[in-house]
Amino acid sequence: MNYRLLGRTALRVSEIGLGTMVHAGHFGPMDDRESLAAIEAAMELGVNFIDTSDAYGAGKSEALLGQALRGRREQVILATKGGTTMVGPHRGKRDYSPPYISRVLEESLRRLQTDYVDLYQLHNPPLEVIERGEVFDLLDKRREEGKIRFYGVSVNRDEVALASIRSGKVDVIQIEYSILDQTAARQVFPLAQAAGVGVIARVPLRRGLLTGKFTPEDEDRFNEEDVRVRHFPGERFQRELVKVELCRFLLKGPIHSLAQAALAFCLAHPAVSTTIAGARNAHQMRENAAASGVRLSQDHLRRLRELWERDFRVPMLYVLRRGDTDRFRTFQERLEKPGLARVMWDRRIGERRTLHKGVMPERRGGDRRGPLLSTWATFGFVAVPQG
Ligand SMILES: NC(=O)c1ccc[n+]([C@@H]2O[C@H](COP(=O)([O-])OP(=O)(O)OC[C@H]3O[C@@H](n4cnc5c(N)ncnc54)[C@H](OP(=O)(O)O)[C@@H]3O)[C@@H](O)[C@H]2O)c1
Repeated sequence: MNYRLLGRTALRVSEIGLGTMVHAGHFGPMDDRESLAAIEAAMELGVNFIDTSDAYGAGKSEALLGQALRGRREQVILATKGGTTMVGPHRGKRDYSPPYISRVLEESLRRLQTDYVDLYQLHNPPLEVIERGEVFDLLDKRREEGKIRFYGVSVNRDEVALASIRSGKVDVIQIEYSILDQTAARQVFPLAQAAGVGVIARVPLRRGLLTGKFTPEDEDRFNEEDVRVRHFPGERFQRELVKVELCRFLLKGPIHSLAQAALAFCLAHPAVSTTIAGARNAHQMRENAAASGVRLSQDHLRRLRELWERDFRVPMLYVLRRGDTDRFRTFQERLEKPGLARVMWDRRIGERRTLHKGVMPERRGGDRRGPLLSTWATFGFVAVPQG
């Protein structure tokens, strides 16, 4: 595991960290034993930066972490957050007033079974809170008392990140950054670097999509509590999958895991200190930790930047689902266009195959309803440019 300085804090964090939102069930049901195994694996592999929040399962993720770290708290750099509510009757409520933050910080410490956190972050604060700045006085006080070593902000919008850095108060920002969302590299990262503010790149796998493991039909298996339902409603999920398909060129070289390539992409930016993929189990944690040291070539980085700059738009994109008869016909008509590779997901055999130009998949035995659709209907398709 490689380590990097977290901005001016002088904390040396593992470049692969662990995000624990998944352990609270925000990506579908979780078994606590798997969460604990993921944390255990992280520690064995030298992952020393763990991020959580009081909002994840209303404290569930913090409590699990407290349990996992009992007796070895000093081995990790622990980051938590407060200010927003994700579940229960007050879902969506935000409060960054000093009395509220003071109270929820104490509650976090109790659940984490520790006297201090290394990093306390305001969780998704709006711009006004940063501009008003009164909460920083409280955080300074808690720092003097030794309850927090450093504080920062976890932000949803660039302008909040920029204002936070300019305030001179925060040592660290946490912000979404991935192959599919490179916005932060435009303004936020250069400013953070210049100011010595540490950067935590969050959601590096685009909530799991950038592992390449999903097919269009997976959308149906996300339950209501799964954040992917909210973030990728309807066609959006399929469009995101198409973008992921366009990134498979990354696997043509020595890298064999799209997840690792996605993490390596985050770490390729010099402003980034650590990236905190959520790992639901030890297996995912091991794969993610092994991304430390994986490097993308300059050519691949350039291609990823170019793809993002044109919003991954390519001449023709199709994602066809069961019953999509009209779109399927159009797709068939255009199959002969040059320069396209066709990718097929087959849920039944659980593998992904690339179709060669003009070659149709063989029909499945016994289905005599004639048109290809009866055979193809259980597949998803996407046409992407070759190369
Ligand atoms: N506003 C905020 O402050 C904020 C917002 C979002 C996230 N965060 C932080 O950032 C962390 C990471 O973000 P995230 O969890 O939303 O998204 P993410 O890390 O991009 O994706 C996590 C999901 O990716 C899948 N995954 C991870 N490693 C994998 C592997 N090796 N192979 C296959 N699948 C793998 C898992 O999906 P499955 O569950 O389907 O297996 C996991 O739930 C969070 O845990 C949290 O600490 C903060």
